[in-house]
Amino acid sequence: MGPERLEPVMTTTVKVLGRRQVNRTVQESLSDVYLAAYGDPGLPESRLDAQNFANSTIPRHARRDGFKLVLATTGDEISGYGYGFTGKRGQFWSDWLAGAAPADIVDAWVGNHFELVDIVVDPAHRGQGIAGLLHDELVTGLPQDRALLATEPDGGAAARLYTGRGWQIIAPEIDGTKALYGLDLRTPQST
Ligand SMILES: CC(C)(COP(=O)(O)OP(=O)(O)OC[C@H]1O[C@@H](n2cnc3c(N)ncnc32)[C@H](O)[C@@H]1OP(=O)(O)O)[C@@H](O)C(=O)NCCC(=O)NCCS
Repeated sequence: MGPERLEPVMTTTVKVLGRRQVNRTVQESLSDVYLAAYGDPGLPESRLDAQNFANSTIPRHARRDGFKLVLATTGDEISGYGYGFTGKRGQFWSDWLAGAAPADIVDAWVGNHFELVDIVVDPAHRGQGIAGLLHDELVTGLPQDRALLATEPDGGAAARLYTGRGWQIIAPEIDGTKALYGLDLRTPQST
């Protein structure tokens, strides 16, 4: 019998960052993951979009109350991130939701919720449970009573990720393809 080949085990660690810890290095990492997940690194417009996300959207969102960012490191690479903040009436998404979701859902859920903006894993590191780790760290210990996000309820990775962790579809169609998901944070999570 020949020697067994063992794949190196790469450990993933997740750390939590507040607004003051979002520095240049963190922004560059976010831009890299965003580009790998949503863009084409060969296209200048994709690179610009990723830089705009990291240098403009992130600092703007980081100024909002309740901002929380989680960053995953696998081996020596940043492999994913997730973030959100306290959603309030008067902000774009909350006001938009007020017109897009049924009134009873809006009354019960929208305003002072934790708005989970995105969880993104670099395609090179997917399918290893990293999004699950990011999710659990992001929602653990939140001060809000409830959390909201929008994603496609298509049985893909995102839908599996959230429905497996207590999120429920509270409005099945808010913009044609996406559903509104809610998570009751007063119920202790099983994670
Ligand atoms: C969604 C995403 C974050 C998942 O990242 P990941 O690290 O590969 O996910 P995990 O390995 O932690 O798996 C999460 C769940 O999805 C399932 N899953 C993973 N890949 C899947 C696939 N290709 N198809 C269906 N389910 C899949 C896993 O089985 C797991 O389910 P479980 O908790 O029931 O076991 C990643 O695909 C991504 O970055 N997508 C683009 C951005 C996005 O859509 N973000 C979510 C919108 S808010």
